[in-house]
Amino acid sequence: MNVVAILRSDEAGQAMNAACTDINGTEVSTHVGRLLDVQGDVSLLKSADVLILDVDPRSEEEMTHLRKVLQHEFPGVPIVVTAPEASLQDVRQFMHLGVVDFVPQPITQADLKTALEQVGRTRKSKDEPSVQDGHIISFLKAGGGAGASTLAVQSACLLASRKKAEKSNVCLVDLDLQFGTNALYLDLDNRVGIADLLEAPDRIDRELLSSVMGHHASGLELLAAPRDVVALETLHAMDLERCLKLIRSAYGTTFLDLPSAWTPWSYAAVRHSDLIILVTQLTVAGVRQGRRQIETLQSHGLGDVPIKVALNRFEKGWGKSVDIKDAEKAMGRKFDYFIANDYSTVTDALNQGVALSVIKKKSKVEQNLQKMIDDAIKTITGEEARPEPRLLLGSRR
Ligand SMILES: Nc1ncnc2c1ncn2[C@@H]1O[C@H](COP(=O)(O)OP(=O)(O)OP(=O)(O)O)[C@@H](O)[C@H]1O
Ligand SMILES: [Mg+2]
Repeated sequence: MNVVAILRSDEAGQAMNAACTDINGTEVSTHVGRLLDVQGDVSLLKSADVLILDVDPRSEEEMTHLRKVLQHEFPGVPIVVTAPEASLQDVRQFMHLGVVDFVPQPITQADLKTALEQVGRTRKSKDEPSVQDGHIISFLKAGGGAGASTLAVQSACLLASRKKAEKSNVCLVDLDLQFGTNALYLDLDNRVGIADLLEAPDRIDRELLSSVMGHHASGLELLAAPRDVVALETLHAMDLERCLKLIRSAYGTTFLDLPSAWTPWSYAAVRHSDLIILVTQLTVAGVRQGRRQIETLQSHGLGDVPIKVALNRFEKGWGKSVDIKDAEKAMGRKFDYFIANDYSTVTDALNQGVALSVIKKKSKVEQNLQKMIDDAIKTITGEEARPEPRLLLGSRR
C-alpha cells in the first residue's frame, strides 16, 4: 500500500516517519507543506493508495480544499486526516465529509496502524462486486409528523407496483432506527431487518441482505428498522455505506426514510443519495425547520446533493393563513411538489398496510405522488437539469 502523507510541520513529518517504520506492506512517503502547496503536484497524489492529510479545521480555505480533493479530485482515494488541534466537533465534521479516519497529533504508530486497518476495511468493501447502477432517493422530514414516512412508503409502493414485472426493483430502507414505522405502514414483519445487520456487520453481503428483506404485495422489498429501540451509535457509517453500495447494485431504485437525528451515518446516507426529498407542511414551524435542514446539509458539505421540497397535506385555501409565496421566501427556495391532504385514504392505507390505490383508485394524493416520483427519477437520470438547492439568499426571517 502506497501511502502519501502531506504534513504541515517538520515535527509532524518526523513523527510520521518514526511511526511508519515496521508497518508491513506499507510504503509511506512524507512531504512537509500544506495541501494547497503540493496539490499542483498531481503525479505525487495520483500515485497514492491512501492520502494522509494534515488539515487545519479552522481554516476555511483548507477545509474547502479538502472537500475538493474528497469529492472531485480524488473521490476514490481513501483519505485519513490529521491535525495538531481538533475538537470532537472538528473530527465529526471530517468524518461527515467522507474521511476514513482521523489521527491525532503527535502521530503514534498505534494510531497510524488503526487508521490504515480502517482503510483496509474500506478498500475491501469497495472491491466487492457492485454495478452501482441503481438510484437512491432519501426522504427527510422538516419536523416530526410532516409525513416523510408516508410519502416514502406510498411512493415506493407505487413505483414497485409499476415495475412489478422487473424482479427486485424497488427497495425501501427504514433508517429511522429508533422510531421506524415502515414495517407497520406496510403490515410487514419487523423481526427481520436492520437489526440482523447490526448483529453481524462484518458478514453483510448480498445473501444476508436479501434474507432480511420483507416482501410486500406491491412488489416492494423492505429493510425494516429494528423492532426494539437501539442506540443510534450501534450503526456505523462505514457499515451503512457498505450496505447502501450492495443495495444500490441490487435494486433499480432505493428509498431511504431518514431519521430526525443527525449522526455520522445519517450524513453518510445523504452523501450516497442521488436526490433528497425534503417533506414539510405549510406551517410556520414546517417552513422554518425545512430551511434549517437545508442549511444543515450545506454546512456539512452536502449542499451539492440535489434537493426537492414536497409540501405535504396541501389544501387550497390554506394560503389564507400562510401564503405559499411568503412560505417559499421564508424557506429560501420554491416548493417542488404539492401532495394533497386526504386523511381517510392515507390513514386507511397505512392502517391496512396497503397501497393507496387499494383503498381508493386514482385519489388526488396518489396522482400527486406519481407526479413526484416521475419528476424525481427524471431529475436523477439527467433528463432534467440537476436541481440546485436554489437558496434565495437574504430572505431569512
Ligand atoms: N397527505 C396526507 N394526507 C393526510 N394525512 C397524511 C398525509 N401524509 C401523512 N399523513 C398522516 O400524518 C401522520 C404522520 O405521518 P408520518 O408517519 O409519515 O410522519 P413522519 O414525517 O414520518 O413523522 P415521524 O417519523 O416523526 O413520526 C400519519 O398518521 C399519516 O396518516
Ligand atoms: Mg417517520
